[in-house]
Amino acid sequence: MSDGRVINFGAGPSALPTDVLEEANKGLLNFQGTGIGIAEISHRSKEFTAFLNEAESHIRTLLEVPSTHKILFTQGGGSGQFSAVVLNLLARHRLLHPQLKDEERVMDYVVTGSWSKKAMQEAGRLGGGRVNIAADARRYSNDGKAFNSVPPHDDYAFSADPALIYYCENETVDGVQFSDDLSSPASFPFEKLTQGALLPLVADYSSSFLSRPIPRLADHAVVFAGAQKNLGPAGLTILIVRQDCIVDVDAAAKLGATPVPITLSYKTLADHSSLYNTPSVLPIYIAGLVLRKMSDGGGLQVYAQSNRQKFEKIVAALKNGEEKDVFKAKVKDGSVSWMNIVFDVPGEGRQQKFLDGADKRGMKGLAGHRSVGGVRVSLYNAITQQDTDKLVGYMNEFVADTV
Ligand SMILES: Cc1ncc(COP(=O)(O)O)c(C=O)c1O
Repeated sequence: MSDGRVINFGAGPSALPTDVLEEANKGLLNFQGTGIGIAEISHRSKEFTAFLNEAESHIRTLLEVPSTHKILFTQGGGSGQFSAVVLNLLARHRLLHPQLKDEERVMDYVVTGSWSKKAMQEAGRLGGGRVNIAADARRYSNDGKAFNSVPPHDDYAFSADPALIYYCENETVDGVQFSDDLSSPASFPFEKLTQGALLPLVADYSSSFLSRPIPRLADHAVVFAGAQKNLGPAGLTILIVRQDCIVDVDAAAKLGATPVPITLSYKTLADHSSLYNTPSVLPIYIAGLVLRKMSDGGGLQVYAQSNRQKFEKIVAALKNGEEKDVFKAKVKDGSVSWMNIVFDVPGEGRQQKFLDGADKRGMKGLAGHRSVGGVRVSLYNAITQQDTDKLVGYMNEFVADTV
């Protein structure tokens, strides 16, 4: 391990594999023997475009992305996509149904946490369609305000022929995630969607991308993710877009749709193989090295299995603390995220004591999001079993010392 590095359990930007960072160090000075550093080289050089193509093919193989979908690289983060999916999919809907009034273009949002809520608010702000809350997880919490579970399948009310259907697979702040087991009541209710149609289904995978396979990937119109959790530095956003959702936004604007800024248009990105303008070369480089490591290391199932183990270890330590009234889980069983596990340490000053003790032992980034407080353990791909075991040891020790 490089000198002075601690274990970073932060929620994002977050830990990256040390060997990748060491390799990237070399590339910063001399990218693939070109004599030019990666932050200095032309994005149109044959070396960089080959690297970009390799990164894309790793994603296609790791996630088994079907040929019906394009993989695109862009910037603007998850928040940029809150806007871009609305504009592109409203343009698609306009081309399909030019006669409808704006209020007849419905955008279905499944609200399970603060990120899907933000995305929904952006859709309302942009206009051009009407927002419908297809399900709201807050209804199932005690105070009606907290997000602490995935709603039951019966609760979803999807619209007929909406412009988009939106969900956030893993809510990073609230620690709520849809189950990847489609027989679980906490899975996404794919069976309630119109079957056999090309649905405008959108998923924000920002904080779970490449942590495990994506259920029913082929049925999605758009899957997007900022890179800064499992994959690389902030500044790179990855899109997987079904080809029927890459539409001529200018033709839609002529029919009355909101004009789409050129860099947000999926068609611009696709027509220029993600190189319409200068991409985020350095984040792509580091993400590309991580992807290469994943492919060389046995593929996604290896990571999925390891992530499950890490999750189970922390949940067991949390349960031990709950039994002794030292910890209190915030999320209901079945909806707990593999990537971000959130809990409280009730009692005067105890939470700070827990965080300080972790800090002293070289474990940082464990404070919950400022909007909800508590503790948040983020277990992204770069967190090892050893890192997890160290935290588990500390959690158990803290419980034993407290009771
Ligand atoms: C699930 C999810 N969606 C969206 C975002 C927003 O991403 P960005 O900060 O890249 O705009 C985040 C950020 O943490 C996130 O966790």
